[in-house]
Amino acid sequence: MAAKKPFIRITDTTLRDAHQSLWATRMRTDDILKIAETIDNAGFYSLECWGGATFDVCMRFLRENPWQRLREIKKVCKKTPLQMLFRGQNILGYKHYPDDIVERFTALACENGMDIFRVFDALNDPRNLETAIKCVKKYGGHAQGTICYTTSPVHTVQAFVKLAKEQEAMGIDSLAIKDMAGILTPGAARELVAALKKAMPEMPIQVHSHMTSGMAAAMYLAAADAGAGCFDCAISTLSSFSSQPPTESVKVMLESEGFETGLDTAALTKINGYFKDLKAKREPTSAKKVEAVDAGVLVHAIPGGMISNLRSQLAQQDALDRLDDVLAELPKARADLGYPPLVTPTSQIVGVQSVLNVLSGKRFSMVTDETKRYAAGYYGRTPAPIEPKLRKKLIGKLKPITCRPADLLKPGLVAAAAELPPNTIKAEEDILSYALFPEVALGYFKWRKEGGPIPADAEEAKTKVEVEEKKGNSSLQLPTSTSTPSGTPVLAPLNGTFYRSDAPGKPEFAADGATVKEGQPVCTVEAMKLFNPIKAPKAGKITFVAAHGKMVQKGETVAVIG
Ligand code: CO
Repeated sequence: MAAKKPFIRITDTTLRDAHQSLWATRMRTDDILKIAETIDNAGFYSLECWGGATFDVCMRFLRENPWQRLREIKKVCKKTPLQMLFRGQNILGYKHYPDDIVERFTALACENGMDIFRVFDALNDPRNLETAIKCVKKYGGHAQGTICYTTSPVHTVQAFVKLAKEQEAMGIDSLAIKDMAGILTPGAARELVAALKKAMPEMPIQVHSHMTSGMAAAMYLAAADAGAGCFDCAISTLSSFSSQPPTESVKVMLESEGFETGLDTAALTKINGYFKDLKAKREPTSAKKVEAVDAGVLVHAIPGGMISNLRSQLAQQDALDRLDDVLAELPKARADLGYPPLVTPTSQIVGVQSVLNVLSGKRFSMVTDETKRYAAGYYGRTPAPIEPKLRKKLIGKLKPITCRPADLLKPGLVAAAAELPPNTIKAEEDILSYALFPEVALGYFKWRKEGGPIPADAEEAKTKVEVEEKKGNSSLQLPTSTSTPSGTPVLAPLNGTFYRSDAPGKPEFAADGATVKEGQPVCTVEAMKLFNPIKAPKAGKITFVAAHGKMVQKGETVAVIG
């Protein structure tokens, strides 16, 4: 008689990744609470309910306190552990935070009911995971280490095993294989899981994927065979497309192979019925046009979410017709940049850099500050080294570093608290919210104090108006290179917001009337959320034409050098 196959557990991602992937993260706390008890009783291993986007959108669009959401879910879900996605030293944001902020955030998250922390780093640099893993352990959480899965000549099974062993040494309780783009094939999963199991037989392995390319459910089955013990799924209404595989289907698939899942079918049916009704209210209209399977991912490995970002970035630059060029450029730019996995924030850096490489007509002639900092080591070690000549060009005058990036940061908690206007905060958690999302948190605190409309309620109408306006104005957005004062014009390289000084976190650029050197960065345009410094085309006295903080169009004269 064949030995009974082991128990396989399922993590429910409906409350985090699934609605982030399909509903623009617009699920509200009330939506969750109405069904939370049933979810808690369905037999899941854990409930993923917190992450960067959920935290941000809570405050920005829903005017909710994400900490309060966590507490309220915890009040109802007493049986099933709560889980969050934690970007290592980036916590929930896009930059490295000092260790004291990582520590207080973790402490408060544990205190408010978070149980399992999936800690990952976009570059798979273990130094960026260290503090977070240590803090999770210190405050009693379950520290799950992560391999961000990607393919490249340097991302071999051996390299992944080495990365896992490094995290094992840090004391992780389990390990996740995070296949954010849905590119992990059943064959590769079987090989990777088997190698990990061989190297660390006791380590529980969980697999996270997306149905983007249509392979994830089959891949889960292969990974289960090789010894993975837990999989991320979403309830069917919020599954598939760019979300996780459906819980109900994966359950039946696993059980047909002799695995037990412990999931209660009646509860799953009830949960799904609930979200089916909610879908009409929460799913954005744009989601209805998404294809069920994005076969392109199998070819170019670029996740759909990233493509829709590229599309909107190109639309912002009136260059939607260049999408194919950007998709062709992206893998090349990624290779040149040392094959970073494409996940926040590297997906943004590589994506925007690829857009610039195409739009500027000369690769890496325009480099964002973030690309510069990435190449200089401020995000961590690049998976493969960047070719030295290119690296030098990218870095410019920035000082390259080889240490753990957070070692350069001063403690930030007291400074963040001191920055807050008086009478803004109600509890310590507000300081953390502010430290992670300064502008967003201030907007939320102001709303909390003064009241006002909830942005998400007015959103759909607003989006419609914007689309109409965009259509009507497209002919007006042609480059307008005028040069009213005499001299050499300094042109905006992109559509975006112009800053000549005081850009958030930016040093002073050239003062009006100053004498500048050729090639000196004199001002910047913020486009696609990243800063694009503009260099002086020649030496001379600079006179600014464009106003600080105003929208400029590509080709518009922002300054003149005489
Ligand atoms: Co995901």
